Formats: sequence, structure tokens, C-alpha cells
Amino acid sequence: FDAVDLIRTKRDRGELTTPEIDWLVDAYTRGYVGDEQMAAMTMAIFLNGMTRREIKDLTLAMIASGERMDFSGLGKPTADKHSTGGVGDKITLPLMPLVASFGVAVPQLSGRGLGHTGGTLDKLESIPGWRANLSNEEMFAQLRGPGGVICAAGSGLAPADGKLYALRDITGTVEAIPLIASSIMSKKIAEGTSALVLDVKFGSGAFLKDIDKSRELARTMVELGRDAGVATSALLTDMNVPLGLAIGNANEVRESVEVLAGGGPADIVELTVALAREMLALAGQPDADVEAALKDGRAMDKWRETIRAQGGDPDAALPVARETHTVVAEADGVLVEQQALPFGIAAWRLGAGRARKQDPVQHAAGIDLHAKPGDEVRAGQPLFTLSADEPARFERALEALEGAYRVAPVGTPFTRTPLVAERIA
Ligand code: URA
Repeated sequence: FDAVDLIRTKRDRGELTTPEIDWLVDAYTRGYVGDEQMAAMTMAIFLNGMTRREIKDLTLAMIASGERMDFSGLGKPTADKHSTGGVGDKITLPLMPLVASFGVAVPQLSGRGLGHTGGTLDKLESIPGWRANLSNEEMFAQLRGPGGVICAAGSGLAPADGKLYALRDITGTVEAIPLIASSIMSKKIAEGTSALVLDVKFGSGAFLKDIDKSRELARTMVELGRDAGVATSALLTDMNVPLGLAIGNANEVRESVEVLAGGGPADIVELTVALAREMLALAGQPDADVEAALKDGRAMDKWRETIRAQGGDPDAALPVARETHTVVAEADGVLVEQQALPFGIAAWRLGAGRARKQDPVQHAAGIDLHAKPGDEVRAGQPLFTLSADEPARFERALEALEGAYRVAPVGTPFTRTPLVAERIA
């Protein structure tokens, strides 16, 4: 095959054959097809789309570019969750031990944050001693023992996706449904989980803002999972408002521990419980009482066990920022707006996120919200607190937050929209 012919085909809205897609992915992974050619191809796909058959072939070709794990020897069912990313989305932290407390192994291979969305590994690295990088042997031992693990995905899984994602990131071609669906599902199928629940976000803080696009992404991924023999379902969830009250790293760990202690913000509990129910149902336990496991300490015991197994001290103090800056309500009223994207960008500018892959994050940097949309507030009442190690960062964060929140006059009606909008199975 010739890369230029394949690019022309896609440019002119044609369909690539299975052997063409296999060749393209293999040749790109080995470096025979260059970045400039693949960039043209991803832009053609972004503009003209792909058929379901092409998306499936692309997914399979990316899986075939690397190793495939197999958990069938564990002797217990496996279930994983993937979120398309949001602001304040720390759900994996309480969810993993909650589901594992029911005897279902949870192989949660996770990533780091880039841009305004946080990364699960960055959050957990706030815990002194905790290690993200485990060997395959360590990961299997932990799934056999405690039954849950959150660790870095090794570069051996779908390496074609790693290369392609980095290219999409710098060529404006991330937001294409065929490319997102094949990227996520190639990693999850190669990981070898037998059940998968997708938390597909929509709204201002999600990278697909429009619910119709999110639904199409969810349907595509559910089909890809099914075709590969993975029991897959998806929830479409609202990412217009940050999840919970904490945005950052250490503060998100703190909030997750509150949920595991039976408390925590209502939205975090709601989403954790909804996703746990989905995972357990797909793993053969549709009647599991997940709320009870949060209330009676089983999920917390599992959290402590899994954190310790990865070298972390669940009792250690978490880092605290050197400086804080609190913003208060100027008048009595109702908080009617709190936009996820600017709050995510502000937390990122405070140091909670990174601009380049190799940058470190500041674990104590972030934002603590003191009120959520719908709450009544009094003049002078704190709305949120920014935390950073360098006070110079506050100004840029506050710039991002201009117009991102609004207190309306007392008595202004406020209607809450559902957090879980739809279920796709
Ligand atoms: N997450 C992924 O893993 N891949 C994408 O393409 C987008 C989000």
C-alpha cells in the first residue's frame, strides 16, 4: 500500500479496507509512515468520519500493535471504569475499593492529567510513598490479593495509540469520535478486563461539549466492547459543573476518603454508587448493596489495603499549600452558575495540572469550593478558596474565573439538572 493513496481515499470520503487499516497502523507504529502523513490522515478522519467497520478495524489494529493482558487466571471476575475526563473527577478513587470490596477484581490502569482535566495517578501521588509504576507481576499479585489496583498503564498496551494520541494532541484532531473511541477501547480491550463501564461526559468541562456527540461516542464504544467480548455499558454524565467540592490533587484524595468514610458531597456519592452498580451488574452482582459498603467501612478497609500494597501510607498527612486566597460572595443570593471548564483551567494554573507531559504537578495546589449551584449564600460568605505554593499564581487563576460563577438575587429559582443523564447499554 501507499500512504498517499490511503490519505486521498479518506480525503475524498472513501472507505479504507481492513488490510489497508492494518497496514497503516503497523507502518505508522514502525515509523514507515511518517507523522506528517498520519497527521493528514487524522485530519481527513476528523473531517469525514469513519464507518463502524473502519472504527472496529482501527481499534483491532491498535490492539495488535502491542501486548494483550489476560486476567482469566485470576479466578474472579474483572471490571474496570473509564471516564472521558472532567473537572474534579476523582470517582476512580472511591470506586475502585468499593467495587473490589465485593470480590470483583478492578484493574484500573490510569493516566496522568494533561490540560485542564486531572489525572488519577497525579492525585494518588499526593499520598506519601504511593507508587504508580508497577510491574505486571506486581499488578497481578495485587489483583489476586487485595483485588484492586490503580496503576500506570504500561507502554506495552496499544503502543500505536500512544504515538497517535500524541500526534492528535498537537494537530487539533483529538475531538474526532472514531479516533477517541478506538483510542480508549484499544487500551481497555488490550488490558483484558471482562467488564467495562464508560463514564462519558458532556458539557462545558468535557472535551465533547454536546450531549448528542457524547451519546454517539458512548454508543460506538459500547459496540466496540461488545464486539470484542467485553461486557460494556456507558453512563452519560453532566460535566457543566465541577464534580464535588475539591479540584486538584491532594484535596481530591481528601474528598475521596470522606466518601469512603460514608460522607462526602452528594454528587460524588451519587456517581460513585451509580458506576459501582453498573460495574457489579456487568460482573454478575446486580443486587450488590453498594451504599452499605460505603457506610459500614468495607470500602474504606479495601482502600487502606490497596494503598498500602502500593507503598502508600493511608494515615500520612497530605501536602498542604503554602498560600491560600478565598473569594467571598459580594451580596446575599443564590449561586446559579459555576462553570467546570474555567474552574479546571484555574486549578491547572495554580499548579494542579501540567502544560507539558514531562512537567511535575504541585500536589497541594487546587481549588476548594464552599458552595454549589443552587446553594443560598450570604454576603461575605466564602465561595471558594484557591491554594498554591506561589502566590503569584492567584492572579492568573482569578483571570480564568472571571464570569465563571454568578450569585443571583435572593429568591431566584434554580433547577438542578440530573447528573446521570442517560444509560447506554
Ligand atoms: N482519552 C483517550 O485515551 N483517547 C482519546 O482519544 C481521548 C481521550
